[in-house]
Amino acid sequence: MIYIVSGTNRPGSNSLKVAKQMHGYYNALDVENEIIDLQDYPQNELDGSQYSENKPQKLIELNKKILDSDGLCVVVPEYNGSLPGILKTFIDHLEYPAAFYHRPVCFIGLGGMFGGLRPVEHAQQIFGYRNAFIYPDRVFLINVWKMMQNDQVMDEMAVKLMKDQTKGFSDFVKGLCDTHLHAKHSG
Ligand SMILES: Cc1cc2nc3c(=O)[nH]c(=O)nc-3n(C[C@H](O)[C@H](O)[C@H](O)COP(=O)(O)O)c2cc1C
Repeated sequence: MIYIVSGTNRPGSNSLKVAKQMHGYYNALDVENEIIDLQDYPQNELDGSQYSENKPQKLIELNKKILDSDGLCVVVPEYNGSLPGILKTFIDHLEYPAAFYHRPVCFIGLGGMFGGLRPVEHAQQIFGYRNAFIYPDRVFLINVWKMMQNDQVMDEMAVKLMKDQTKGFSDFVKGLCDTHLHAKHSG
C-alpha cells in the first residue's frame, strides 16, 4: 500500500486536490493506494505527552498504517518558506526509527513561484535524516492555483510529471521490495 499524505489540514487545500489526482493515477496503474488527509489528524488530542506514550487511538492507527506501508507520496505545500507545522507534527509523532527507516518516499511540492521547492527540500532533509529511501524525481507545482481547473491540475507538463512520478515511484518501491532492501525486510 502506498499512502499519499496531503501535507496540510487547511480546509479546501490544493494539497488534498493534488493528492486526489495522484490517487487516480495510482489507481490507473492498479497500484494499491490511499490518501492520508491531515484534516483528520487528531491535533486537538495532543498536549505534548504523546511523543512516546498516551497515544490517541487515531495516532496508533496512523502509526500502524505507516509501518505496514510500501511507500509514501508526500504532497508538501509551502507555508512561510517551509513545510506546514501539522506535517512536521505528523512526522514527529510516528515511531522512531521504524516509521521511515528504509521506507521509500517521494515528494510533490506546491506553492508560488518556486513551486514548493523549499518545503520539499526541507522534507527531504528530514526524511534523509530518518534513513528513508528518497525517490529522486520530485514534482514542483509552480503557482499551483493558476494550474487548477475544477480541482484538477491541468497544466500539461505538470500532469506528465505527476504521471511519470506515479509510474517511476511504483517501480522504485517494487525494486526495493524485490531486492529485500525495503523496510519490510529490515531486521
Ligand atoms: C499559511 C500559509 C503560508 C504560505 N506561505 C507561502 C510561502 O512562503 N511561499 C509560497 O510560495 N506560498 C506560500 N503560501 C501559498 C501556498 O503555498 C499555496 O496557497 C498552496 O496552495 C498552499 O497549499 P494548500 O492549498 O494545500 O494549503 C502560503 C499559504 C498559506 C496558507
